[in-house]
Amino acid sequence: MTTKPKVLIHVPIENDLIEKIRAVAEIDELIITAPRAELLAAVKDVDGILLTPRVRADTEFFDAAPNLKVISTTSVGYDPFDIPAATKHGVAVCHTPGVLTAAVANLTIASIFSLALRLFEYESYVQSGGWARREKTPPLGTDIQGKILGVIGFGRIGQEVTRRMQALGMRTLWYDVLDAPHPSAPESDYRPLNDLLAEADFVSLHTNLDASSRHMIGDAELNLMKPTAYLVNTARGPLIDQVALTKALQSNQIAGAALDVLEEEPPAEDDPIFTLPNIICFPHIGTATEETRRAMRELAVQNLIAVITGEKPPAPVNPEVLG
Ligand code: DGY
Repeated sequence: MTTKPKVLIHVPIENDLIEKIRAVAEIDELIITAPRAELLAAVKDVDGILLTPRVRADTEFFDAAPNLKVISTTSVGYDPFDIPAATKHGVAVCHTPGVLTAAVANLTIASIFSLALRLFEYESYVQSGGWARREKTPPLGTDIQGKILGVIGFGRIGQEVTRRMQALGMRTLWYDVLDAPHPSAPESDYRPLNDLLAEADFVSLHTNLDASSRHMIGDAELNLMKPTAYLVNTARGPLIDQVALTKALQSNQIAGAALDVLEEEPPAEDDPIFTLPNIICFPHIGTATEETRRAMRELAVQNLIAVITGEKPPAPVNPEVLG
């Protein structure tokens, strides 16, 4: 009798997706908020795990899971996973690129519009009764058309934001650690990072988080930006040195920022960044639509099933372990 592989589901997913996994594997479930010690005990004999980037998958994790063949995350980001350690342990790491590009681009664009048109200031002016009491209105906004958008990280999402903002009349620049864009990328002007920061009216981050990109925007980079420029981050919080950004916003060194991601998530309630009038923050909602989250879970399940059944998964991060 052949035994089925074992899978740990460590993320809430729909029953139809659970049934797809059950068709090829034995299933254990562990609630997403379970303490790490429980997780390490639960992965002892599993072949695959479906999880989120809440899990730190490091050497301790891989040592605790000697049979593991795949970790499949319901996210595109895989920064909490030690990829060389996974590869060393023969574990395929899979993620969900592509299906969330439009959603993250939409939030980026909404953030740019919100900053430019001061939408949240006007909204709270109305909600708090300022309009009814005929109080002084917030300052005027700024046009998008004719302005320069600097995109840092020219992958799928950076390219999509570029395409959409070009259609709305913005001039666009790009910077990436890879110096040649993909052939399907939109026409856009390359600039070295410092030149892009100095020229752009809006700077938007779309790069992966790793040791080399952590704090890529700090004091020195914020200093290069125009005092009228805005910073948008819908990628990963630690790309920005948040203490430096708080200082830059306090001193109006730049005009404002929109952050969907923070260095610490969830943040401390008394983080000084929340006291600033020139910032808008969202709770990491770049992919938070029904359709996109469903598509991410579907792709993650497809990745998982492919690896445990010996097929090629659609989106591996370290394909070399798959032979
Ligand atoms: C992603 O997919 O990486 C999003 O940021 C959600 O974690």
